[in-house]
Amino acid sequence: MSELPEHVRRNRAMWDAWAQKFAAAGERGWADNTPAWGIWQVPESEVRMLPEDLAGKDVIELGCGTAYVSSWLAWRGARVVGIDNSQAQLDTARRLQRTHGLDFPLIHGNAEEVGYPDASFDFAISEYGACLWADPYRWIPEAARLLRPGGRLTFLTNSFLLTLCVPAEDGIAATDRLLRPAFGVYRVEYPGDPGVEFHLSHGDWIRLLRRSGFKIEDLDRCASFA
Ligand SMILES: C[S@@+](CC[C@H](N)C(=O)[O-])C[C@H]1O[C@@H](n2cnc3c(N)ncnc32)[C@H](O)[C@@H]1O
Repeated sequence: MSELPEHVRRNRAMWDAWAQKFAAAGERGWADNTPAWGIWQVPESEVRMLPEDLAGKDVIELGCGTAYVSSWLAWRGARVVGIDNSQAQLDTARRLQRTHGLDFPLIHGNAEEVGYPDASFDFAISEYGACLWADPYRWIPEAARLLRPGGRLTFLTNSFLLTLCVPAEDGIAATDRLLRPAFGVYRVEYPGDPGVEFHLSHGDWIRLLRRSGFKIEDLDRCASFA
């Protein structure tokens, strides 16, 4: 494993400090085994983020945080591994595993460089995890490496339009005004915020996914490894 990149070290410190604030959301996610997604909590029946048949499949959650998404996959019969950059987030995940009587590996590490052999998984997922906080030019090729032929990657992150419209000051809602140019968006930092986010235009996502060997099935939903 190489030394952690600067953005990974900064995000680790930030998520260790933030973990307590996210524990309640983790508890709610673990307690309700009916997946719903994003800020509008759209039900899984409408979004179809998850493959139909997960029983016996090897799956990995990249940036699992409190691991409630991993728990949904485990209850559906998948063999789950969660990886997260924050030990404090994983402490919550381990506590919730004990509360709900579920056990699967939780790895403290960087989703840009996962210590599993090539072709270890059938399905990879990220919900506002690595797909938001890790460098896409590192974690997408890594996800492709980890997946078996025919495997699937699904991720959910902030919309590109929101990234262009959200004010830099914390706590102020986005409006219909574009505040930054769409060209060249990649690494995004906000003043006073210790974290580093990554956002790409739709075109840059498509080029990166295709170059990494994915066949894109749906822009709103998933990419499949051909
Ligand atoms: C908003 S949480 C999303 C996780 C989960 N869906 C949840 O709500 O608990 C973001 C998570 O991504 C993790 N993360 C950030 N950068 C990462 C990286 N490079 N590799 C793995 N995890 C990362 C953070 O530590 C944090 O737990």
